[in-house]
This record gives sequence, structure tokens and C-alpha cells, in this order.
Amino acid sequence: MKDFKGKVAVITGAGNGFGVEIAKECAIRNMKMVLVDIEGEDVERTKKLVESMGAVAVSLTADVSLLEEVKKMVDITIENFGQIDLLFNNAGVAIPGYIWELPMRDWDWIVSINVMSQVYAMNLAIPIMLKQGTPCHIINTASVAGLITSDGMPAYHTTKHASVALSESVSYDLQKINANIKVSVLCPGFVQTDLHHYEKHRPERFSAVEDPYYQSDSFKMHQAIAEHVVTTGIPVDSIGMSVFNAIEDEDFYILTHPIYSTLIGKRVKDMLEGKGPDLKALRG
Ligand SMILES: NC(=O)c1ccc[n+]([C@@H]2O[C@H](COP(=O)([O-])OP(=O)(O)OC[C@H]3O[C@@H](n4cnc5c(N)ncnc54)[C@H](O)[C@@H]3O)[C@@H](O)[C@H]2O)c1
Repeated sequence: MKDFKGKVAVITGAGNGFGVEIAKECAIRNMKMVLVDIEGEDVERTKKLVESMGAVAVSLTADVSLLEEVKKMVDITIENFGQIDLLFNNAGVAIPGYIWELPMRDWDWIVSINVMSQVYAMNLAIPIMLKQGTPCHIINTASVAGLITSDGMPAYHTTKHASVALSESVSYDLQKINANIKVSVLCPGFVQTDLHHYEKHRPERFSAVEDPYYQSDSFKMHQAIAEHVVTTGIPVDSIGMSVFNAIEDEDFYILTHPIYSTLIGKRVKDMLEGKGPDLKALRG
């Protein structure tokens, strides 16, 4: 897709980080957009920002880890703009923690937002896009954590590998039916956003303040590591442009950190040679 003027974009996680950058790029291209986030004040701020850039935007406070809320998102898009051309399944959280400690509610939470929100949105938006027949593009935010693995965050890796696999599988099926819909999967390394403050976005149904895990040294250690890696990542301002370059060029994998290419190649080579995860080799 190269012509964006007047197209309709739906952006989840539009209140912070990547979502804001994507919304700004949509505004620059004179697109209309539906901005969705679980944090009402944050998504309103993004709406005001893109409106100040001349864009037409609708905001929705919604928890996209719930099918009903995703249905609302799609319905509101059709009610306001009559079509969906670009779907950015971007909302996500990065929950670290060892599998023998991380409470199961956190697994349920991360799977529901990082994977199921993308499943729900594609399930509901693709029939609309197929009916339209016009060029459409779906961009799922995964991570380089969906292409490689490391220690300390099995839940994040699991969901991001799922997002990559989901994107690849859906892309095959859309090709099989000659759909006018492209798919891309965004796989960045660490970027300076609000990602380490994920606890702020914990939906009520996963809350468990009385659980001692959230006061443990292990929890605090993982929080500190998350803060370090996110705050020392690359600046966020190049992400929107990387995404739109990929949409224009119809690139499937959007890789923003060339530094990880060696690790991706090494993982594939190790797999073919039957070599398993080696912490010493990972640490280099
Ligand atoms: N920042 C990084 O280093 C990095 C790297 C690779 C991938 N990612 C991925 O990028 C995506 C965006 O993250 P970010 O870095 O911009 O973080 P961020 O925390 O700055 O933004 C994420 C947004 O998603 C929203 N959100 C969270 N749960 C939600 C829910 N249930 N329903 C609706 N909205 C919800 C949050 O309120 C927040 O505004 C995530 O999927 C993340 O995993 C981030």
C-alpha cells in the first residue's frame, strides 16, 4: 500500500510508545483513525495530539484482551468511518519472571493481551476487509523476542513467538484465497517506551495484590532488569517510519535492530545443528 490519504487505521495500545508513533505517522499521511487503549487519559492525549496535526480520530477506552471489547472497537470503526484499511494490533505487555514463580494469572494476562487480542481483531476485521476488496494491511506487533529466546522472560517469548507464528500462518491463508490483504509483523529489540510500567495496565480480572510474589526479591529484580533494558533501548521516534516503510514495501518482517540479525541467524543455525539453548553462549 502506498496511497494512505483518507484510509482508516485502527491502532491498539495507542496511548503510549509505539502506538503514539504509529498514530503520528497516520496523521502525517492524512488518514482517519480509531485509537484504542485500556488507559482512557493516555488515549485521549494521543487523540488531541493527532487532531492538532489535522487528523480525524476517534478514541476508545477498551481492554482488547477481551473479545467483547474488540468487537466494540470494530463496530465503532465501522459506525464512524465505514471501513478498515489498516489494523495495527500493537497493545501488549512484557511480563518477566521464572516459570516456577510467575503466578498463572500473569500467564493468562499476557497470553490474552499479546496473543488473543490479535486473534480477536483479525477474526473480526478480516471478513470486513475481504468484503471491501480494497488493499488492506494488518501489522501485528511482536518483538525480536518472537524470533530468538533468552532467559528470564519465558511468558514474553512464548507470546511473541506465537504472534510471529500467527502472523505467518494468517499470511499463508490470505495468499491462498488471493485476498487483497497484506500482513507484517513488527519485531523490534528494546525501545525506550513505557513498556516496563506494564503493571499499570493490569486488568481488574487479573489483579491479586495479596499475592506475596509481587513483594518478592525475585519480582523486584525482574522489574529492575525490565526497566534497565527498556530505558537503554533505541529512541522510539524511528519506529513509526520503520513501520510505514515496511507497509509501502510490503515487507513481512519489520526488523528495527540490525544488531539482532546475528542472533537470529545463530538460533536457526543452532537448531539445524541440534544445539540447544546455551546460557554461556548467549551471554557471549
Ligand atoms: N518497547 C520495547 O522495547 C518493545 C520491543 C519489542 C516489542 N514491543 C511491543 O510493542 C508493543 C507496544 O509496546 P510499547 O513498547 O509501546 O509499550 P507501552 O507500554 O509504552 O505501550 C503499550 C500500550 O498498550 C496499552 N495496553 C496494555 N494492555 C492493554 C489492553 N489490555 N487493552 C488495550 N490497551 C492495552 C497500554 O495502556 C499502553 O498504552 C507491545 O506489544 C510490546 O510488547 C516493545
